[in-house]
Order: sequence, then C-alpha cells, then structure tokens
Amino acid sequence: MDTIIKNGLIVNAHESFKADVGIKNGIICCIGRDLNDGKARIVDAADKYVLPGGVEPHAHFSVPFFGTVSCDDYTSGTRAAAFGGVTTVLDFATQEKGRSLDETAKARIAMAQDKTYVDYSFHLIITDPSDDVLAEIPRMVSLGFPSIKVYMVYKKEGLMVDDAQMYRILKKTKSCGALLSVHTENPDIIDMFTDEFLAKGLTSAWYHYLSRPDFVAAEAGKRVIHWARSLKAPLYIVHVSDWETMAEIRKAQSDGYPIYAETCPQYLNFTDDVYKRPDAQRFICSPPMKGEDSRRALWAAVRDGSVSALGSDHCPFMAAEKDADKPFPLIPNGMMGIETRYSYILSEAIKGSLSLNRAVDIGSAGPAKLFGCRNKGSVEVGKDADIVILNPDKKYRVSQSESHSDVDHTVWEGYENYGTIEMTLCRGEVLVENGILKAEKGFGKLVRRYSSTP
Ligand code: URP
Ligand code: ZN
Ligand code: ZN
Repeated sequence: MDTIIKNGLIVNAHESFKADVGIKNGIICCIGRDLNDGKARIVDAADKYVLPGGVEPHAHFSVPFFGTVSCDDYTSGTRAAAFGGVTTVLDFATQEKGRSLDETAKARIAMAQDKTYVDYSFHLIITDPSDDVLAEIPRMVSLGFPSIKVYMVYKKEGLMVDDAQMYRILKKTKSCGALLSVHTENPDIIDMFTDEFLAKGLTSAWYHYLSRPDFVAAEAGKRVIHWARSLKAPLYIVHVSDWETMAEIRKAQSDGYPIYAETCPQYLNFTDDVYKRPDAQRFICSPPMKGEDSRRALWAAVRDGSVSALGSDHCPFMAAEKDADKPFPLIPNGMMGIETRYSYILSEAIKGSLSLNRAVDIGSAGPAKLFGCRNKGSVEVGKDADIVILNPDKKYRVSQSESHSDVDHTVWEGYENYGTIEMTLCRGEVLVENGILKAEKGFGKLVRRYSSTP
C-alpha cells in the first residue's frame, strides 16, 4: 500500500464506522482494522472523520456573463475547491449558437486540461437546439457527458431556450439516458417587473429581489416538471430557492417520477434580508434568496432526502463589479461558494442541523451518482481514493484573507464553521495538508462519466 489512513471514523452517505483505509495506486484497496504493511505512509486520523471528497455539481469558471467574465478560472477555482475538500468539480460548457456540442466540449477540455488541481467534467449547456445538435446528444453521452443543461431565463443574454425547444430536448435526453438540468425562472415576468421598476427609478438590489417574486421560479418549475412527468423524463432542477418549487418536486417524487432537486448553501443560510444590507449588491444572484418560509422548507427537504445534491453555483465577480454604481440589471449575477460549500454542510451537521451521512450524501455521493461519476462519492474499496480528513473539534471563521479563490471578497465573511478540513486527497495524492497546497497544477483529470438514468 502507498498510504494508510488509520483510526478515523469513516462517514459515507449511508453508514459510519471506525476503520483504517488502505490506498494503492490512487485507489482504495482495503478497509479494515489494524492495517499495516510496514511500508505505507501512515496518516493518523484518530478522533477525525474520514469522508469522501466533495463532488461539486454546479460551478461557473471563466464564464462570460453580463459583459464580464466570472473571475475564477480552472486553476484558481479548483485550488479553492481543493481547500474546501472538493475533489471533483462539474462546471459548464456553454454552446455558442451555431456550434456543435462536440466542438463545445473540445473547446472546454482545451481550457481545463493541465490547469486543474482536482478532477473535473462539465455539463453541456444547449442554447441553440437545432436538429443536428439534438442528434449529437447520444454521442456526447457515450463520450462521457451524460448531462445537459438549459436555461428558462437569461433571454436578453441569448442563453434561454423556449418551451418547445425544451420539450424536444427533454424527449431526447430521456431517450438516450442523459439527465437534463434546468434553471427555472420566467423571463418575461422578470423583464416586465424590471422595466416597471427602472421606469420609476427603482434601481437598488432590493428591486432585483422584487423583480423575481417566488412565483417566477415556481411557475417555471411547475411547467418543466409537468413536461418531465408527461415524458417520464429524468429532470434535475438546479439551485432550488423557494418552498413552492420544492413542494412540486416532492409531489413528483412521491408520485414516483425521477425529479431531483439541488439547492445551495446561500438558500439555506440567508434570506431576502440580505437585499436590505449595505452590501446587498454582492448578493445579487438568480434566483435571489427568498423568505424564511422558503429557507425552512429547503432545510426540511435537505433533511428528509428530497434534495439530492448541494451545489455552490460558484460564479464569482470582483467587488468592483458587484459594487458598481449601476442599476441592478447591470450587476453581474452570481456569488462565490466552491470553497465553503462542503465545509458549510459538514459544519451544519456537526452543529446538529442534519446528520453527517446526509451531509456527505448531498455534498458528495448524491451528485456523484446522479452525474455518473462512478468512482467518486464514497470511501469504499475500488473507488478513487478521494478523501477528506476533517477535525470536528476545530472551529474557524470564514474570511476572505484565508480563502484561495481569485475573488477579492466573500459573502460568507465571518460565518463560524464547525470542523476544519485538515487534509484533502484526490486519487491518493495529498492536495492540501493543514492549510498548505501540496498538489501540482494539472494534477486534475477529466472524469469520463456514465449515464445514471434508466
Ligand atoms: O446568479 C447566478 N446564479 N449566476 C450564475 C448563473 C446561474 O444562473 O446559475
Ligand atoms: Zn442558474
Ligand atoms: Zn449556476
């Protein structure tokens, strides 16, 4: 064996037990008591948790958006991921209109190759679903990209697909075992409110929130769930932020449909109150944070398993861009979170808000399973040795000065995190140890993914 992690409490999505973990050639080769071969490097994890590396299902690196570009690239974004205990990142490859999916994927691979600290893949975002593009989807699934995403919003930004296009995409993803992710908001209602506010000179971040009342997300969510049900097509709703969408997803799940929910730490931790703060513009994201009723409903769904994955929706912009003296529709939408996502939910588990197993499920095992990362998401013999060692007794406060992304502020400033990640390993290599980066840029590999749907 190359490494043995001794005496820790292994926590997976469905069980926790004390054992040693043996690693050889990047793979977990054995799990048992008193492992020792006299040669392996010994890592003592007594009184610590031994967890699967986080799987981040939702990040936007170097994405052109609102006339600028999100400020983490594959290097800085995956560096922050590694410090946050994340060993696999799923980002997005957005189709330029007229471009094939194959070209879209190749361009993104070229951007990421040799640049990342952790393993990676991406979902393909379709913006121009021509017949040729739809016909490419089965091949992209077989090449290891079994997840497609579409936007029901960002009409003016040229990213949106209309209802008929989405229905056709759903039919296709269903037929070839791909999972369709959707950002659900109704763009026409948002644009109507936005125009009304701007005409009255109401331009602050509070009006970003008011231009997107809860029903804007819920109505679009209900529409796409309706189609997915009628086609029995698997559907993943990204960044669910409101109680009504969550209720519709629960209903579909209890009726036996493969409808999955992702939520994000920001919707579990903050409410619309943030849009009254002096730094409200830094919280401009879509969908915006909602009321306490939604926050509570999302927590209930996280606890009872109705939420399958926690995404960060990491899409950071520099403070000068977020704070610019401009009306809300010109402030780039998105916030940071890749470094805090897994730690946040583990911290909440240590505090008692949910079980540790649930935290591992939505932070790692759930997204690994849904998005076909077969060798990830579990501390188990035969899986990649993607492991986080967490000290549950050590607290810290999140601060920008201790963060590893290229963004120059954090909306999580001051959050008291219970538990500290002391080591992140990916395929048996130590990426981060006691706050020191050990990995080489370029260590991360493209993950060939498999269809997870029937
Ligand atoms: O405001 C957000 N969420 N920005 C990132 C893009 C998206 O909609 O996920
Ligand atoms: Zn979105
Ligand atoms: Zn997003």
